[in-house]
Amino acid sequence: MSEHLTPTPDIRVALVDAAIRAAVLQLGVSDEQHDFVGRIIASLPDAEACAGSEPMAILLDGEPIGFYRIETHPRSIADMDFPRVTLGLRSFFIDTRWQGRGLGTRALVAAMHDLARRHPSARDVVLTVNLRNAPALALYRRAGFRETGGLYHGGRSGPQFVMLCALPV
Ligand SMILES: CC(C)(COP(=O)(O)OP(=O)(O)OC[C@H]1O[C@@H](n2cnc3c(N)ncnc32)[C@H](O)[C@@H]1OP(=O)(O)O)[C@@H](O)C(=O)NCCC(=O)NCCS
Repeated sequence: MSEHLTPTPDIRVALVDAAIRAAVLQLGVSDEQHDFVGRIIASLPDAEACAGSEPMAILLDGEPIGFYRIETHPRSIADMDFPRVTLGLRSFFIDTRWQGRGLGTRALVAAMHDLARRHPSARDVVLTVNLRNAPALALYRRAGFRETGGLYHGGRSGPQFVMLCALPV
């Protein structure tokens, strides 16, 4: 069995820096999944350029297999404000070659713990997910995200649930 298929793969998250940037730019998803997430060639430079955005890599045994970005201004997620200090999660994906092995689930747990550690004043994480994106909905619900009840109609691929989850203490 490959070491990547062992029950406890070494999944970590890290800010994208010069050492891993080129490898992160090689990551991608299928054409159909681009309805739900932008291309890394656009999203990485955008996150690097935006004040309040953190470009993050998902690492398996130290090698990038996925990406997401954190927004410290959560209003940019769904044009709404929150009563508690809230961070936004956007553009979360696992590269096509690594999907369906439970790595997205582990990466999300690692991301939440990383946020709790690096942003101690933050209490919640918000994201939007397309109503048609069943795998992502399953992933987020399993991680503890719940629909807020509102739908977000921004974006190019149809309505999205707005989901919220408390950070671990
Ligand atoms: C969503 C995504 C990150 C999940 O990553 P992953 O590593 O494949 O996820 P996991 O293997 O940890 O598990 C995902 C869950 O979705 C389920 N799933 C997978 N394909 C599915 C499908 N076609 N329909 C319904 N559920 C599906 C899996 O069964 C699993 O749930 P389970 O453990 O209850 O069975 C990945 O599919 C992806 O990058 N998609 C494209 C980008 C995207 O849509 N990002 C979300 C933007 S909001």
